[in-house]
Amino acid sequence: MKNTTARILEPTRGGIEKEEQMTIVIVGHVDHGKSTVIGRLLADTRSLPEGKLEQVKRTCERNARPFEYAFLLDALKDEQAQGITIDSARVFFKTQKRRYIIFDAPGHIEFLKNMVTGAAHAQAALLVIDAHEGIKENSRRHGYLLSMLGVRQVSILVNKMDLVGWSKEIFDGVVKQYSEFLFSIGVKQVSFIPISAFHGDNLTENSSSAGWYSGLTVLQQLDAFNVPRPLEDLPLRYPVQDIYKFTEEGDERRIVAGTIESGTVCVGEDIVFLPSNKTAGILSIEEFSRPPADSAHAGQAVGVTLDTQLYIKPGEIMVKKTERNPCVSTRFKANLFWLGKAPLIKNKRYYLKLSTARVPAQVSEIYTVIDAAELSTTAQDGQVNTNEVAEIVVETEKPIAFDLAGEIEATTRFVIIDNYEISGGGIITEALKSSAEVLKEHVRQREFIWVRGEIRAAERQKSIGHGAAFVLVSGPQDTGKIAAAKAIESVLVKSGYNAYYLGVSNLLCGLDADLLFKYEDKGEHLRRLGELAHIMTDSGLIFIATASDIDEYDLARLRTLAEPVKTLAIHFGKEGTGALASDGFFLNNPSIDKVTAHVVDLLRKHDIVP
Ligand code: GTP
Ligand code: MG
Repeated sequence: MKNTTARILEPTRGGIEKEEQMTIVIVGHVDHGKSTVIGRLLADTRSLPEGKLEQVKRTCERNARPFEYAFLLDALKDEQAQGITIDSARVFFKTQKRRYIIFDAPGHIEFLKNMVTGAAHAQAALLVIDAHEGIKENSRRHGYLLSMLGVRQVSILVNKMDLVGWSKEIFDGVVKQYSEFLFSIGVKQVSFIPISAFHGDNLTENSSSAGWYSGLTVLQQLDAFNVPRPLEDLPLRYPVQDIYKFTEEGDERRIVAGTIESGTVCVGEDIVFLPSNKTAGILSIEEFSRPPADSAHAGQAVGVTLDTQLYIKPGEIMVKKTERNPCVSTRFKANLFWLGKAPLIKNKRYYLKLSTARVPAQVSEIYTVIDAAELSTTAQDGQVNTNEVAEIVVETEKPIAFDLAGEIEATTRFVIIDNYEISGGGIITEALKSSAEVLKEHVRQREFIWVRGEIRAAERQKSIGHGAAFVLVSGPQDTGKIAAAKAIESVLVKSGYNAYYLGVSNLLCGLDADLLFKYEDKGEHLRRLGELAHIMTDSGLIFIATASDIDEYDLARLRTLAEPVKTLAIHFGKEGTGALASDGFFLNNPSIDKVTAHVVDLLRKHDIVP
């Protein structure tokens, strides 16, 4: 009979065949029998090249070595050139029901890295425990890692049952002890199967040696694992990549562009952008060099136009009103794999990238840290070193939208960028309460250590003749806001008030002048502006500055940093068309006189000037 199995052992290429496929990871303590399980599964499902098994057995005989299934895997590895069943740590085989990819590299750095960063993702796991040796350190660590990686379907193979005379008591003992452990780490969906991998009991066929066991075989268990729902069936996640304006004159419409990560979207549906929470209806769906479509689904790169003109930014996620929405927060718990040469430092400022969103972020808590090579728990000293996995809390400077591990891959995973390099990857496991609190806490601390002179604010105000304020003029570039800010200063000073205009680039004097032009450091730039506003207004000034393209979160940060004085925000542009939706005062194409009069009015209204 000519062997035809080799062909079907190849991984699916480019999705030509739409066969169901599942990725399984096999883990367990050293020598507990992982390779034997895989070798035996390949042999018993006749997934091996013709004659391979016999060939390896003969070689063993010739060398007077006992046959091992692990040799089989090694022999297949050597055949990589022609072949197929194994590539590095992956084995492919197939049952009546679906195709499988099995990873056999547990605890190894590459595997963990791939799992955490999303390059590889196992949907279920087999965890092998030697019945004779019992539960070992790695049996627990591997279980723990599976839970960290978000693998929720785990079947425990209690192996080498032949060595303990198929004792039901021993099997029950492992079940009891290990179930308790799994429960304690939150892994639920499990089965325990007594097997002898070497002898092939309960692998593909029920064993006569264990009359007391009536559960599934390993093969049946594999087929019983749930395959995740197809991406199209999940809720819509459309991360906004870019926004294009129609170029024709007088045409104010914009096209929102991105790739649909999951779900479907149809013309006429109501959608929401998160985190901004702006809503609209879908007017049209446009595809590059194709006629407009009525709907689009996961995997498609499309543009959409909206029935309401919204100002949104790249990084938001478009979702459907009627479907389960992602979480929105500035704080979450995550499992992180750190690749950076320099360690990850608690409370250091990094950039976090999650689908198309990119925000400044820091790690505020580091819980467990595990060395990925040794799988040992390492000392927790406020940092995570290269190749360590850690449970952490991340805080972002602005709210972001995300899903939780086990939900929607694309919006669950993030990377951390340190100095322009991807230095870590993580999976979000839990949303925590948002903390505008973090900044508030910073301000509280700042006030606490602030060294004051003998003069109180009220006394200073009395002597100067008016109160202090932060006047922020914002709006898109080239709208004349700088000229307006200067005019405000002139009018106020000429009226006898202590006002001062600061050109925003002056903030960078003596510092890295590039900073201003790097999108990366806009957050830092605004932080400095806020802190400076605080110092200047503390001295009793009416402090005037400009900012371009800020949004509500930026403004909220500036307001908090400038406290306790009032921030009066004047925005150039139509309400709803700029980054600011509603906060502050909107002036559409105002004359300079109108702006200055408006500011004086505002200052009076707030009792800052008489
Ligand atoms: P590492 O890859 O080194 O971590 O080991 P492993 O988990 O892949 O174990 P492997 O499959 O290489 O098996 C280790 C030893 O246990 C080998 O000598 C196997 O023949 C033996 N073994 C595996 N399964 C059984 C079994 O069911 N019964 C008996 N008696 N021996 C077994
Ligand atoms: Mg092995």
